[in-house]
Amino acid sequence: MKSDSPYVSKLYGRKKSRSLNTYSQYILKNLFPKYKFEDESVIAIDDNIEFEIGFGYGEHLLWQAINNKNKMFIGAEPFISGAVNLIKEINQKQIKNIRISTDDAINILDTMADCYLSSIYILFPDPWPKRRHHKRRLINPNNVDKFHRVLKKNGKIIIASDHKGYIHSILLDFLYDNRFDWICEKSSDFTEKPFPSTQSKYEKKAIKNNQNPVYFTFKKISL
Ligand SMILES: C[S@@+](CC[C@H](N)C(=O)[O-])C[C@H]1O[C@@H](n2cnc3c(N)ncnc32)[C@H](O)[C@@H]1O
Repeated sequence: MKSDSPYVSKLYGRKKSRSLNTYSQYILKNLFPKYKFEDESVIAIDDNIEFEIGFGYGEHLLWQAINNKNKMFIGAEPFISGAVNLIKEINQKQIKNIRISTDDAINILDTMADCYLSSIYILFPDPWPKRRHHKRRLINPNNVDKFHRVLKKNGKIIIASDHKGYIHSILLDFLYDNRFDWICEKSSDFTEKPFPSTQSKYEKKAIKNNQNPVYFTFKKISL
């Protein structure tokens, strides 16, 4: 990150649950190592590696992995109860194409090679609505540059949000960075989810509250 940047690389938000029950502790100690993301453990199937940033309880990542066995998925979620939930699910269902990290996704991006990913998903990132907290937002010009570096040419970043102010700033950041195309030919391209999947916890909440989520697909068009 540039030293004069207003954007902070620190991780904000929920991390650890106050107390993890014995079963969750068991999962972290004994099962997590089996599914932990380490660069060399990810074998690109058909050259497709997709990364979900902030997967919450992992509903979307699990659905994608089950329905796209020809792809490898990486998920990052520092919220431990969410990660534990996904580890439990992938172990029970014997899912082979997900790797998980509980680190800050931005640090993980920094360890990835150029043009490593075919897609990135960021679904309902924390909106940090107060003006003084905007610099904490995950989607900001610095991170858009990082997303660009790790995506393959024609790779896509798919973002969902139900927060008006954040939606505006996401769109501005990607349009300003003219190395992405906004894939949007008709209004349903951003009012309807661009991929079939189950609903995540936050997506359900947004729809229940009539918050009208918006879905963006940006395609990397130049190296
Ligand atoms: C509002 S929740 C949405 C969770 C999930 N995507 C969903 O739709 O239900 C945002 C999530 O992003 C995670 N998050 C925030 N900053 C992150 C970062 N730098 N790296 C990885 N995850 C992050 C948070 O821990 C939180 O679980």
